[in-house]
Amino acid sequence: QSSLPIYTQEEVSRHKSLDEGVWVTYRGSVYDITDFISVHPGGDKILLAAGGALEPFWALYAVHSQEHVLEILAEYKVGEL
Ligand code: HEM
Repeated sequence: QSSLPIYTQEEVSRHKSLDEGVWVTYRGSVYDITDFISVHPGGDKILLAAGGALEPFWALYAVHSQEHVLEILAEYKVGEL
């Protein structure tokens, strides 16, 4: 994990479309969730977090407070903030 690149918030914020790729952050890590969007059980709502932090949205949708959800997220990790 320590070999993953460090990204700036600014770089993450440039990835918020299917063309550029959709990146999000969570607890200091960066995730490229482009390939997960079409299989997300909550549909396109996931795009609200594109280019930014998951925390405010997951605070609203408590369905994400499960180990199972974090395991899915972990598969898409591409770097650290
Ligand atoms: C449901 C994953 C981001 C809104 C779910 C579920 C998973 C999931 C696994 C199903 C949970 C279950 O029922 O056991 C993720 C991942 C995300 C993400 C990995 C980020 C990479 C978001 C965001 C929003 C959102 C940003 C809202 C802005 C919802 C909603 C549901 C849901 C509303 C409930 C769907 C339903 O049961 O009808 N998500 N989610 N999700 N998600 Fe997400």
